[in-house]
Amino acid sequence: MRELEPVFAGRTFDDFLFRPQHTPVATRGEVNLAMPLVPGIDLALPVLGANMDTVVGEEMAKTLALEGGIGFLHRNCSIAEQAERVRYVKTRHSYVIEQPLLLERRATIAEARQAIRRYNASSFLIEEQKGSGLLAGILSHRDMPLDAASDARPVTDFMTPRERLVTRSPTVSLEEAEQAMFENRVEKLPLVDVDGRIRGLVTMRDLKLYKQNPHSTKDAKGRLRVGAAIGATGDFLQRAEALLQQEVDVVLLDVAHADSDAVQSAVSALRGRFGRVPLVAGNVATGAAARWLAGLGVDAIKVGVGPGRGCRTRLETGAGVPQLQAVREAYLATEGKVPIIADGGVKDDKDIFLAIACGGSTVMLGSMLSGTDEAPGIMVEEPSTRQKMKLYRGMTSPEAVADGAEADELAEALRTPAEGQSVRVPYVGSVVGILARLRGHLRSAVSYAGEAELREAHCKIARDPQKYLIPLSDACWSFASAGLRTARLSAAIARKSYRWRQSGQSQASQIAQ
Ligand code: XMP
Repeated sequence: MRELEPVFAGRTFDDFLFRPQHTPVATRGEVNLAMPLVPGIDLALPVLGANMDTVVGEEMAKTLALEGGIGFLHRNCSIAEQAERVRYVKTRHSYVIEQPLLLERRATIAEARQAIRRYNASSFLIEEQKGSGLLAGILSHRDMPLDAASDARPVTDFMTPRERLVTRSPTVSLEEAEQAMFENRVEKLPLVDVDGRIRGLVTMRDLKLYKQNPHSTKDAKGRLRVGAAIGATGDFLQRAEALLQQEVDVVLLDVAHADSDAVQSAVSALRGRFGRVPLVAGNVATGAAARWLAGLGVDAIKVGVGPGRGCRTRLETGAGVPQLQAVREAYLATEGKVPIIADGGVKDDKDIFLAIACGGSTVMLGSMLSGTDEAPGIMVEEPSTRQKMKLYRGMTSPEAVADGAEADELAEALRTPAEGQSVRVPYVGSVVGILARLRGHLRSAVSYAGEAELREAHCKIARDPQKYLIPLSDACWSFASAGLRTARLSAAIARKSYRWRQSGQSQASQIAQ
């Protein structure tokens, strides 16, 4: 095992720049960013959404996968809720929806309205009797009467009946499905077997999305991929089972301190019960712990203790390893054989490249994704500035703990001192824009590194980082990032002045202190 290079001791992202290299790249759009999440699953954009309840819910998970990354659904909810979110992602945007939403023939329009709201759906296949799976028709949003007077009428009064539907067999190819829908000018193509039983649904909208996003993270059946977190104690096996029943793609065994006996028992219990499902474990922050996890047979290792924006672990306990050092240690200890997920502390786009160049395979982001439409955190407006902000909170913040605990466990849960905090982050619109920016900057970085593929840049730099990295003095850093600093400074001044006004003190008296 190689020793940590001294240049990394006590260092993190802002401590380095890398030396630009002669590049073969003509246009940055051609740079390939694919990296492995776990063996057998590559991501076109090596970005993971953190399993936090203000970062990844079903909408974030869906969008990240569409954009080539992947989201990890948090476990701060019941098993049923988390499994339902997996189901949602797995049943959106595959080119074949394997389990379309069904209503029975006897259902009323009021029930259909309720189901539309519940599943955020635009149409339903109608089956003869509940559970029969026999196709009776389609009810789409265009068929729905606007007036409440029809609420008691059966859906059959409004649906397109079976005999007027275009259908195909479940073995239809993508091209045949597209042709059938185009020739018949229909938007939906139910797939039925020889007995007339529903075996799937193809929609024009999904087909278009499928074709428009060739780099989406999809499984072998064309369904979006999604990960989900479990713990290492309590009901973790039931949770894993429920998630796997919904065909979650990657299980993340996520605890604050994974270098523990509890994780060892949990990994062997999971392997014993579910075999070789893709399993990620974390968090650890030392080479020794990463090597030990690799020895347990996990498929990727999540690295990071305390670097996150919502974390207070380092402040409250003194434990932690600067994030770039931790990633480097994990890479060296596992000899580059197990993908390393650099989790937490990414503040600027450049940090993603540095994490991957020094040994990471992918990065996990929390705060950077949390100000977006797709993040589940609530939106608030700063009363004085009217700026829209979203709440972002550490998963061990009192607020997150209170939301996740059952009523009878609440007092006990809150007795454990918090190692997480809540902050407000600026609202920035859709995550698609953030990901486009990250993608562009990452491609640029690969080009500056003299490669056309991120994987090549990772291999080249991680083999001998001292050849490429330039450690920065404080003076270099403030010069190199003057623009960034100015932006951060003005944001800090704006925040401070807001707090002063809140506390009723004059700015002048504060500045004098
Ligand atoms: P960023 O910096 O991307 O970090 O916001 C996201 C990561 O932070 C971790 N996390 C926590 N760490 N106390 C901690 O010490 C917490 O309450 C907490 N909540 C989240 C987590 O690893 C996440 O991916």
